[in-house]
Amino acid sequence: MKYLVVLAVLSLAFAAEEKEEERPKTFRRLIPADVLRDFPGMCFASTRCATVEPGQTWDLAPFCGRSTCVVSEDTPPRLLELVEDCGPLPLANDKCKLDTDKTNKTAPFPGCCPIFTCEDGAKLEYPELPTPPPEEEKKEEEKPKV
Ligand SMILES: *[C@@H]1O[C@H](CO)[C@@H](O)[C@H](O)[C@H]1NC(C)=O
Repeated sequence: MKYLVVLAVLSLAFAAEEKEEERPKTFRRLIPADVLRDFPGMCFASTRCATVEPGQTWDLAPFCGRSTCVVSEDTPPRLLELVEDCGPLPLANDKCKLDTDKTNKTAPFPGCCPIFTCEDGAKLEYPELPTPPPEEEKKEEEKPKV
């Protein structure tokens, strides 16, 4: 009897975990900063129409994201913009939909990222990111050409 109870509790815990909505993942990339001729050494924040000092962060509203002005470590140092956003949208899935109650598009990043909820058992898939090719492809490349 005791074991049955434990099992029941365990499966409940599992069910709860599966229902938990996907947390919005955030993605980062570095791009060359916009710089105004009259303001060298500062990033130009086009969404704010303002210059931003290295180390400072600004919100990308009306887009959902955040940028930071960064000085690169190479020589000569370059001004970079570290862009953080919600990443690619998940692939279309009939069993998952945008949770309009939980998604707050006007919240500051990352609160504005879309939140999806899925029916039981459904899982969102995200498009492949341009990362290093998977092992199998690599092996094929290493095959000697005939
Ligand atoms: C959305 O976020 C904004 C900014 O943080 C806040 O003022 C507003 O109350 C939020 N709306 C909802 C529905 O949570």
